[in-house]
Amino acid sequence: MEENTPSAPEITTTRVAMIAAIGRNRELGKNNELLWHINEDMQFFKDTTIDHYVIMGRKSFDSIPKKYKPLPNRVNVIISRNPDFMYEECYTCASIEEGIELAVENGEPMAFIIGGGEIYRQAIEKNLVDEMFLTHVDASFADADTFFPAYDHLQWEKELIRTIPADSQNEFPCEIWHYRKK
Ligand SMILES: NC(=O)c1ccc[n+]([C@@H]2O[C@H](COP(=O)([O-])OP(=O)(O)OC[C@H]3O[C@@H](n4cnc5c(N)ncnc54)[C@H](OP(=O)(O)O)[C@@H]3O)[C@@H](O)[C@H]2O)c1
Repeated sequence: MEENTPSAPEITTTRVAMIAAIGRNRELGKNNELLWHINEDMQFFKDTTIDHYVIMGRKSFDSIPKKYKPLPNRVNVIISRNPDFMYEECYTCASIEEGIELAVENGEPMAFIIGGGEIYRQAIEKNLVDEMFLTHVDASFADADTFFPAYDHLQWEKELIRTIPADSQNEFPCEIWHYRKK
């Protein structure tokens, strides 16, 4: 009798996480820049996203100072409607879904959507997100021009992972929360 030795199925699951810092009114930025300088949150962003896919809108990519582009030790994926947009060592994709698909095809366990406002909004609307790392900055910014989307708090379970007091390196106090889709 022929021996039946089925091979184990290949499991490739990619979780999709958003990471953002938001003000009390979900402010994100102004004039294509951030609204604060919070070193410990920048370090958290770096530590969390290092070695992963980072998916971002073309305007957010533009907002990164040239000396930090592409974000080092991460696969930079830029979302643009312009098929000719190119930047060295980066991928350009025509949609968020295409960017996620690239991560899936390459076996990425956790792909990060890193902004900005347009991309976060579409990712929430299209229900593409499994987790969120949100830094809640305890301040308001009346002149903000870009906002994180409203999200249904009941859909998420959340855990406080860090508090950052204001000091010389961190302009405003913050709390970093990890949200998981219920
Ligand atoms: N606080 C934070 O954590 C945080 C994080 C990231 C960014 N930000 C801030 O957010 C602001 C930038 O956000 P933003 O909303 O203006 O722009 P964005 O979301 O970064 O980028 C928008 C661009 O993405 C492309 N795009 C959007 N939807 C698309 C789709 N469905 N298909 C293909 N391409 C698409 C388009 O690029 P093309 O025009 O090239 O077609 C569009 O102009 C800045 O102020 C930045 O500092 C804050």
